[in-house]
Amino acid sequence: MAGDGFIDAALARRSAQGLRRRLRWVAGEQDRWVDVDGRRALLLCSNNYLGLANHPALREAAERALRDYGVGAGASRLVSGSMRAHRELEDDLAALKHAEAALLFTSGYQANVGTIAALVGRDDEVFSDALNHASLIDGCRLSRAEIRVFPHNDMERLEALLAASTARRRLIVTDSVFSMDGDEAPLRAICDLADRYDAMTLVDEAHATGALGPGGSGVVGREGLQDRVTVQMGTLGKALGCFGAFVAGRANLIELLLNEARSFVFTTALPPAIVAAARAALELSRSEPWRRERLAANAARLYRGLLDLGLDVPHCSHILPVIVGDPAATMAVCERLLEYGVFAQGIRPPTVPEGTSRLRVTVMATHTDEDIDAALQAFAAAFADLER
Ligand SMILES: Cc1ncc(COP(=O)(O)O)c(C=O)c1O
Repeated sequence: MAGDGFIDAALARRSAQGLRRRLRWVAGEQDRWVDVDGRRALLLCSNNYLGLANHPALREAAERALRDYGVGAGASRLVSGSMRAHRELEDDLAALKHAEAALLFTSGYQANVGTIAALVGRDDEVFSDALNHASLIDGCRLSRAEIRVFPHNDMERLEALLAASTARRRLIVTDSVFSMDGDEAPLRAICDLADRYDAMTLVDEAHATGALGPGGSGVVGREGLQDRVTVQMGTLGKALGCFGAFVAGRANLIELLLNEARSFVFTTALPPAIVAAARAALELSRSEPWRRERLAANAARLYRGLLDLGLDVPHCSHILPVIVGDPAATMAVCERLLEYGVFAQGIRPPTVPEGTSRLRVTVMATHTDEDIDAALQAFAAAFADLER
């Protein structure tokens, strides 16, 4: 068939470079322990940071909404009507983020591509951290604005780029917690530069919403920067255990996105059962701060143990990058870990820069000290095997 030659060659090239991806089959829920490819393993690569994805309160909320609303939302909210469930969640999200309003998107990917393209266009410039998530990168590309990539967290370089800008509008985009590294952007410095050079800011809090800050309000909330960030983007599929995403900000921003973000306008709304579950997750995130405390304690315990093993872990947060370097070696140690009962996914280029292939290790609030200690034993054994 047409295309076979190109498709097979592309796949063969990936295999030769040690970059071929494959799906692993996981049975059951995203719990502390899972069944991966038929083996029982401690789950250390899920973004279900607070352990809410299978919480009874979320199930009950979803079941109630299924009974009240049925399954599908029917169409874009601008077409077949906006359900009360969506509005209630948006009000709660706006309150969490100390924002005037919020707007739901069907995923974080769609929130980023739609929002960036709604804010900047051909005559504008967008300033993007080199380690930003792919959805921010794709949003920058889709916007057709000039893209200025600054080295990771390099404020001097960002300032130089802003100072040289003659664009009509400027937008700085950054993750708050970087998805593959777990470190944080210097948000206060970014806001200072944005003020000085009249730039808008978009902060992607996919890995911070629920996981950090008072009530799970993220790094922006923790630092009290809500009034200084133009766009607070967050996701519902990670710490909040559901699916979907949102943007929070000034009422005029939300009104603009509702009108012009193509990934909001031209897509079917989130299913009401998911929306109701996300509301229940927000309530748990607010009322059970022990989950964030436990998440941080688990991260610190695992981080200390990994350093004691002599492994290269540049940062401590609920995302712990264990740098291996070579893609094939990374996948080899990932396989060995599975044999020792730990599921920690290997991440290779282009998701991370060349030479920095890693295990992206993530903890959950529901892991116990015994789980973490068992994981450390498995890491010791798997890395010892690698050196043999
Ligand atoms: C920083 C960041 N932004 C956005 C996304 C996309 O979110 P979603 O999975 O809801 O599309 C992800 C991960 O998936 C992410 O890590």
